[in-house]
Amino acid sequence: MQVYVAARSEEKAQKTIVAIQNAAPASTGSLIFLHIDQADLNTVKAAAQSFLAQEQKLDCLFNNAGVKVGDMVPPPKTVQGYELSIGVNCVAAFLFAKLLTPILAATASSQPPNTVRVVWLSSFAMEMYAHKAIGISTDNLDFHEPASGDIRYSLSKAGVWALGVEYARRHQADGIVSVPINPGNGKSELFRHSSPLVKLLAILLGSSPTKCAYTELYAAFSPDVAIGNADWSLSWGKYQPHKPPSMTERDGKLTSHSCSMGSSSPASGGSYPSHRARGRRGYGRHGQVLGME
Ligand SMILES: NC(=O)c1ccc[n+]([C@@H]2O[C@H](COP(=O)([O-])OP(=O)(O)OC[C@H]3O[C@@H](n4cnc5c(N)ncnc54)[C@H](OP(=O)(O)O)[C@@H]3O)[C@@H](O)[C@H]2O)c1
Repeated sequence: MQVYVAARSEEKAQKTIVAIQNAAPASTGSLIFLHIDQADLNTVKAAAQSFLAQEQKLDCLFNNAGVKVGDMVPPPKTVQGYELSIGVNCVAAFLFAKLLTPILAATASSQPPNTVRVVWLSSFAMEMYAHKAIGISTDNLDFHEPASGDIRYSLSKAGVWALGVEYARRHQADGIVSVPINPGNGKSELFRHSSPLVKLLAILLGSSPTKCAYTELYAAFSPDVAIGNADWSLSWGKYQPHKPPSMTERDGKLTSHSCSMGSSSPASGGSYPSHRARGRRGYGRHGQVLGME
C-alpha cells in the first residue's frame, strides 16, 4: 500500500514519515511526500497532477489540512485572494477533490462497493457558529463585514461540511463515499494563532491527536459507513444516523432543507452539548450554504 503525505513543509512531512516508519518497521507499505500548499491553488493543481502522473488508483482522500486563523486585521488571504480559512479549508480542499475525482471514480468501478472514500474534516465549531438557519451566507465570504478569526474558521468548517454532503450527492453514482466528520477537540497545532486562554483550554481539555485520528480512520475504513448513510461522523468514530437528503442545488447555490446536524450529547456518546440543550440550531430552511459552481 502507498500512502501519499500531502503537506506544505517537506521537512515536517519527512520527519513524520520517518517517525511512522520507525513505529512500524515490519510494514511493507510506503509513505511518499507530496507537496501542496492549500493557500495557493497553483500548488493544489500541481499536487493533483503529480499524483495522477504516478498512480493508477486512489482509494481514499483525506481532506485533513486546515488552518484556524487569528484575529488579524485585515484577515490574511490566500495567494488567489480568498480569506485564508475559507481558501485553505474549503476552496483548496474542493479543488483537490475535484481534480482527483476521475481517479477516485475509476478506482471505485473496480473495487468492492463503499470502499472508495473522501473524508472531509469539519468541526464542532461549525455546530457552534454556523449561520443560524443558513449555514454560510454567501454574501460575506470576503468578510467585507468584519468577523473574528473564530467565526471565520467556524464558517469555513460549515463550508467543509457542506462540501462533504454535496460531494456525496454528486458522486454517489460514481461509487464514491463522501463523509464529513468532526474529529473531536484535540491537542494539536491548530490553536497556534489562538489566545493564550484557548491554547491552555486545548491543552487541558483536548484529546490526543491519536484519538482524533480514530474518527478519520473510522470514516475511511469502517464497514458501517456507506453511500447514502454518510452524512456526519462524530468524534471517536461514532456515527450520526442518516438524515433525509439535506441539501439541494438551486440557482447554482447549495441550499439546505430540513437539515439538522443531529445530537452529539453525552447520552448519545458524544462529547458536546446536544442541540436540544443549546436550543435547536437549524442548518437551513431555504438558506444559501455555499456556492459551488
Ligand atoms: N484540533 C481540534 O480540536 C480540531 C477540531 C475539529 C476539527 N479539526 C480539524 O482537523 C484538521 C487537522 O487539524 P489539527 O487539529 O491536526 O491541527 P494542526 O496540527 O494544525 O494540523 C493542521 C495541518 O494542516 C496543515 N496546513 C495548514 N495550512 C496549510 C496549507 N496552506 N497547505 C497545506 N497544509 C496546511 C498544517 O501544516 P503545517 O504543519 O505545515 O502547518 C498541519 O499539517 C483540521 O482541518 C482542523 O480544522 C481539529
